[in-house]
Amino acid sequence: MEHRESLLALRHYLSSQILGQEKLIERLLIALLADGHLLVEGAPGLAKTKAIKDLAEGLEAEFHRIQFTPDLLPADITGTEIYRPENGTFVFQQGPIFHHLVLADEINRAPAKVQSALLEAMAERQVSVGRTTYDLPPLFLVMATQNPIEQEGTYPLPEAQLDRFLMHVKIGYPEASVERRILQQARGEALHGESKPERRVTQESIFAARQEILGLHMADAVEEYLVQLIMATRTPAKYDAELAEWISYGASPRGSIALDRCARAHAWLAGRDFVSPEDIQAVLFDILRHRLILTFEAEAAGIDQDRVVQRILDVVAVA
Ligand SMILES: Nc1ncnc2c1ncn2[C@@H]1O[C@H](COP(=O)(O)OP(=O)(O)OP(=O)(O)O)[C@@H](O)[C@H]1O
Ligand SMILES: [Mg+2]
Repeated sequence: MEHRESLLALRHYLSSQILGQEKLIERLLIALLADGHLLVEGAPGLAKTKAIKDLAEGLEAEFHRIQFTPDLLPADITGTEIYRPENGTFVFQQGPIFHHLVLADEINRAPAKVQSALLEAMAERQVSVGRTTYDLPPLFLVMATQNPIEQEGTYPLPEAQLDRFLMHVKIGYPEASVERRILQQARGEALHGESKPERRVTQESIFAARQEILGLHMADAVEEYLVQLIMATRTPAKYDAELAEWISYGASPRGSIALDRCARAHAWLAGRDFVSPEDIQAVLFDILRHRLILTFEAEAAGIDQDRVVQRILDVVAVA
């Protein structure tokens, strides 16, 4: 219970800093609690950088930003072995990925080799250089950003590797009333500096929360519902003729595990000790968005991933 209070205080702090982006804040916390990584898609200037920086302020965690560019090399991310002439040995110099919270900014601006180095380290939670493997810290969250407007001269992430992101979150512009609060806050910060959280959540608290979350009760019927939602992406014809026309590849077991863990974290944040179908539904879009490969027919008809997920929700009944 005490861990939940700390997380709620953290959420409160983040909401006071990042206005009108409740969803982004919640998804960051779910990713933290479910031990996964986020892909965030949104226009420039929507407080993506601010969100993960403020999260690092509210946590006992170090933050680092990596700007992806076309000339980046894999070793610029993971690190490299450096020769020490004084004793003729090589020592490993850790790259910027060796931090707790890593912002991988504009991930589609770097070529495939660099993206792979990041995605592999994310999934394996370690970096291999030569014959040695180096573990990343137990608290390790990557938030990668992708800009939806700029597609030219960029390298789309390989579809097969997108699965390594726990969730794919889309964020949009704030509405007018929120925009005014953002203005007022920005003026206040320019005058008086940014406000800091009262206390920082410890890493132990996060690890303990993760244990509690894995222990939440999930009824058989709810688990079956979760599985059916995933199955509908793999064998859509068994569920609905339209779905079958739209989906060419569905979600992997990694997708099911992601759905389980995120739904649990969602229930835990809401203060429940059991997982309900609503928890699964609440995270389903962000879990499936990057895990579905649509058919040519769907693309041609302007059907996007979100439309497909909505259809899955419509045709799969709660057991
Ligand atoms: N919802 C918001 N609440 C508070 N401040 C905001 C909000 N949206 C934007 N800002 C302010 O706008 C500025 C830009 O934010 P930030 O640098 O985090 O954007 P970004 O999404 O990382 O942009 P880019 O894609 O260009 O990197 C910051 O000064 C931030 O404080
Ligand atoms: Mg930014």
